[in-house]
Amino acid sequence: MAPRKKLEQEKENLIYANTFGIGPRYVDSILYNNYGILKMTNLKIHGFKTLESICSEIHACVFDETFLNHFLNLLYKMVNLGCMHMDLNFGNIMINIDKTIQLIDFAEVQYFQASLPFESTHRFTPIDHLRRHGEKLTIMMIVKEALLPFVGDVSECSPTLFANSFIHKTLASDDDICRLLKHCWCI
Ligand SMILES: Nc1ncnc2c1ncn2[C@@H]1O[C@H](COP(=O)(O)OP(=O)(O)O)[C@@H](O)[C@H]1O
Ligand SMILES: [Mg+2]
Repeated sequence: MAPRKKLEQEKENLIYANTFGIGPRYVDSILYNNYGILKMTNLKIHGFKTLESICSEIHACVFDETFLNHFLNLLYKMVNLGCMHMDLNFGNIMINIDKTIQLIDFAEVQYFQASLPFESTHRFTPIDHLRRHGEKLTIMMIVKEALLPFVGDVSECSPTLFANSFIHKTLASDDDICRLLKHCWCI
């Protein structure tokens, strides 16, 4: 995608998320030497760190039930807004001391119809990198797909540390993820 189009897309995604109090507040955007620059609130000065930097300091205790509830509640909020952050790796999830979660990097957001029930069989055309043989995805499939980078980072972060951890067991398989979502979201 051309830099200007990419920048416009990410800006639109961030502004949409902001409308509902999600993501760092958008300030401005410029294209400079063919690089897109997005100006937004600096979450670091508000005490937020990426999971990536936290894991490099080996704070595995971050991944407890409080964290998981905050994380899944935020995703539930997005589902109800008809969108999902599709790049949920540790570099794009920031938390503070209270385990309040802020998502960043809204370059890849999948939109769908907010009014449909979560388990609707209606399928949506996925954003390009999710397209597998022209397959369309249900909302449940989109959310499971969204969780893949996160689950991947959890298991890569430190296998020995996470082998018996709460989060590793909770997200062990596709069925576990479905069960967890239904339980947390009361659906
Ligand atoms: N609003 C923000 N506040 C503080 N740090 C940020 C913010 N946005 C991005 N960062 C930092 O910059 C890194 C890269 O930003 P990101 O938007 O994820 O770009 P990339 O497309 O390179 O992944 C993040 O992992 C985070 O450390
Ligand atoms: Mg990123």
